[in-house]
Amino acid sequence: MIIAIDGPSAAGKGTIGRALALKLGLHYLDTGSLYRMVGFEVMRNNADPADSQACASIAQSLNVGSFNDADLRGEKVGSFASQVAALPQVRHALLKFQRDFAAQKPGAVLDGRDIGTVICPDADYKFFITASVDARARRRALESPSTEIAAIKAEIEARDARDSNRNVAPLKPAADAVIIDTSDLSADEVLTRVLSVIQP
Ligand code: CDP
Repeated sequence: MIIAIDGPSAAGKGTIGRALALKLGLHYLDTGSLYRMVGFEVMRNNADPADSQACASIAQSLNVGSFNDADLRGEKVGSFASQVAALPQVRHALLKFQRDFAAQKPGAVLDGRDIGTVICPDADYKFFITASVDARARRRALESPSTEIAAIKAEIEARDARDSNRNVAPLKPAADAVIIDTSDLSADEVLTRVLSVIQP
């Protein structure tokens, strides 16, 4: 069983993906963390996030187990992640890891931007989890109370634009995805909705 969860930044994909995997006994992968690892390495090595060769070579030699979660969070790494994520060579370098992860028994939940469209086009269930920019900015503000909400909103909008307008694997719902707007829903309500699709 493969469940694909795509959607923009701070829409609640991670919360729902983790809860769903736990509930159904499936493996869970936050694919954004892979792009964040590449972004973090690019930043740490003072590499150019537009240099596709340098970034692809970082992506190819990524040691996924060697990162500290705290280092990967934050908007600076997120911004680097979204820049390297626009490079086809970087996406290609991360493809096999994601497909192998999805193929594990008894199944997996993957969240990201292109799971239903590119990584697992044959997923059993596809969800596109979204929310208004204001709702997403409010959620991010709860995670980093020291940052101005207007600044968070601007960062989210910039990342949405870059992720949606890139040529390769842009952020968009798969044609067969169930779209859920979580702006006015609690995490439990989203989980109930998702489960009602999987176990009607
Ligand atoms: O945590 P947040 O939702 O803000 O972002 P993330 O899921 O950690 O992803 C960081 C960045 O990686 C995104 O802005 C995308 O540019 C990129 N990404 C991607 O291109 N494809 C994926 N499957 C996952 C993330």
